[in-house]
Parts: sequence; C-alpha cells; structure tokens
Amino acid sequence: MTDASEPILNRRREEFPTLEKGIYLLSHSLGPVPNAAREAMLTYLERWQSHAGEDAWAAEWWALSNEVGDRVARLIGAPPGTVYPQPNASIALAAVASCFDFASSKRRKVVTTALDFPSMDHLWHAQRRVGADVHVVPSDNDIVTPLERILDAIDAETCLVALSHVSYRSSYKVDAAAVVRRAHEVGALVLLDAYQSVGITEIDVSAWSVDFLLGGSIKWLCGGPACGYLYVRPDLIQTLEPRLTGWIAHARVFDFEHGPIRYADTVRRFAQGTPNIPGLYSFLPGLKIIEEIGASAIAAESRRRTQRIVRFAREHGWSLHSPSDARSRGGSVMIETERPNEIVAQLAERNVFVDCRPGVGLRISPHFFNTDDEIEEALNTIGDLLV
Ligand SMILES: Cc1ncc(COP(=O)(O)O)c(C=O)c1O
Repeated sequence: MTDASEPILNRRREEFPTLEKGIYLLSHSLGPVPNAAREAMLTYLERWQSHAGEDAWAAEWWALSNEVGDRVARLIGAPPGTVYPQPNASIALAAVASCFDFASSKRRKVVTTALDFPSMDHLWHAQRRVGADVHVVPSDNDIVTPLERILDAIDAETCLVALSHVSYRSSYKVDAAAVVRRAHEVGALVLLDAYQSVGITEIDVSAWSVDFLLGGSIKWLCGGPACGYLYVRPDLIQTLEPRLTGWIAHARVFDFEHGPIRYADTVRRFAQGTPNIPGLYSFLPGLKIIEEIGASAIAAESRRRTQRIVRFAREHGWSLHSPSDARSRGGSVMIETERPNEIVAQLAERNVFVDCRPGVGLRISPHFFNTDDEIEEALNTIGDLLV
C-alpha cells in the first residue's frame, strides 16, 4: 500500500531511455539522460563543424553561459544575472575561497561540517596553508549536524560558513535560513553547497539571504558530466575579486588587455577560462524539464516518496542513515547494511539501481520520473535481499 494516491504529475518517462533498463534511483549520483540531450549534443557538434562559415561563438556559444546561469537562477529563487557556470562544483568553491585574504584579515575562521562532500573538506583544509582557520563542526552519528552546534561555531572571527545544504552521505538538510541569520548577525557570509538539493528540494536564496550557492549539472538536474554553477548575492558581486580568475572574467574580454585583471561588473567576474561548451549543452535539456514540471511539485512529490521509504524501513526494522523527519531530509534515503556492495550488485541484477558509500549503506533516490509502483517494487526487492 502506498501512502497516498499517486498525484497527476507529468513524469515524462518516455523522454528518458535509461528508464527502460529498470528502476532508476540514482539521481544523487548521475541522473538519467533526456532524449533532448542527444539532440543538444548533436547541435553542439553541428555548430562546431560549421564554424568555418558561421561563427559558433557568435551564433550560440557565448550566450549559453548566461542562458544556463539564468535558468539555474530561476530554480533557486535568484534574480537573472546572479548565476554563472563553472567547470564543476569544486572549482566554484575554489573561486569563492580565492576571494578571501585569510592571512591579513581579522576574520580568518571558516565554519564547515563533517557531513560536507570531501571536495569541500579538501579545499578548506588546503586554505590553512594561506592562513584560514578551518573549524569543522562534528556530527555525533554521521547523520545530523545539530543546528545549535553550527550556530555556536559562528563568531566574530568567522568570515564564511560553507556547508552542504543537503549532505551526500545522510541526506541531512540544514536549516539554511537559520544559519544565514546567525552568520549575518556577526558579519559572516554563508555558502551553500546545494549539489544535492537543487532540483529536488525548494530553494529560495533571496528569501534566505544566502550569499553564495553552488552546485552542478549531473545529479537531480539530469544534465551530463559536467557543468558546475555559482550564485553570488547581487549586492556582493562587485565587492569580490577572485584570485582564481582568467580572461573570461575581464570587463572587456575582447580587448585582450595584459596586466592585473579589470573584473567584469557582472557575475561573469567569477568565470575563469573558455567555458565548457559541451557541458553547457548537456545541461540545458534537464534544466528545461525540471522547470516545466516545477521545483515545488517535484519537492512535494519527493517528500511523499521518501516518507514512504522511511515508513517501510521502520516497518521492516531497517536502520536509517538519514533523518526520519522529512523537514530535515533531502531527496535521498540511506539504509544501513553490512553488505552494501553485495546488495547493490544483487539489486542491479534485478534491475533496481541504487548505490552505496562507505559507512553509509544504500543510497536510494526517487525523482519525478519514478512511479509509486516502482518504489514499492524496489522496496520489496531490497526487503528480499536484506533478510
Ligand atoms: C554535495 C556535493 N558537493 C560537491 C560534489 C562534487 O562536485 P564536482 O565533482 O562538480 O566538483 C558532489 C559530488 O557528488 C556532491 O555530492
């Protein structure tokens, strides 16, 4: 029995050939390919091929970065002109880190959490070499970082709080608005790594007053590998000067000026070199589909689905490696098992596609294209294997 009758949502399953292979629950890792992505990649090739006669940059390629940026902006409640593509989420983070002068500032503290993605951890630890005082807020159970603990770590020496909005390892969703309130009270900024939340949970960077948000194409947004993006609060854009930079960030790109950069006064000042054009093409179709279905409809559906998985897990005595309260959870549910790799392989043999991470167990991620019947079948199959 499902929790409620399946709502009328255009799941657009026929647009995703990958779904013919089985029950696809891997959106936290690599989302399925929409048919339109194949067409987009062919357009990319055709433009490239015909560049001798028709300048591919002028015809389409330059405009793509803004189009992708503005489409992401709409999904996160940001105004146009506040999001710029990045090679990947790690570089987006490095671009933000390069705006801070840790060694010469009174504010040297960066607050992160133990549930963040390893890239973030690696990058912030490396900033210790240039004077950053990195404070990693621990989790007692590897599932939740208590909000009070995060808020207590933010003080007058903090320049930045940089943390996952939704954790890749437990699906824990932090109360972003509360973190921003506390940070702004003491004059610190907040960066959300929203790779695991954009496209599956509601995000409103404007209402929450988030300063930076970053993510990428390949998971919940059904884009190809890889394209990252970075949102910067509009009134901050012109105050920041990333040291990780390049000619595309220049105020007058085609003047080819030498010497110190004169930054663009738009969000393009966070760019570096030539954009990843195939990545941008691969990203657009998924973005369009998510926008057409609607981020809130997808988020509501996700809560209903993940709640169903949590209830099923409880009924079967499985240990969750995720919060049980939907308000503190993203789009995935993690189920602990001592044989994660074996179970993942056995599920794949039965055409149920999930994955696992060390210490976490199974990661299960329903998205808009799944049906309720699929979720039931996947849960029953997992149940047969976990006994
Ligand atoms: C939350 C989160 N942040 C960052 C990354 C890394 O992104 P990228 O490979 O684009 O740097 C991932 C990838 O799984 C992730 O889940």
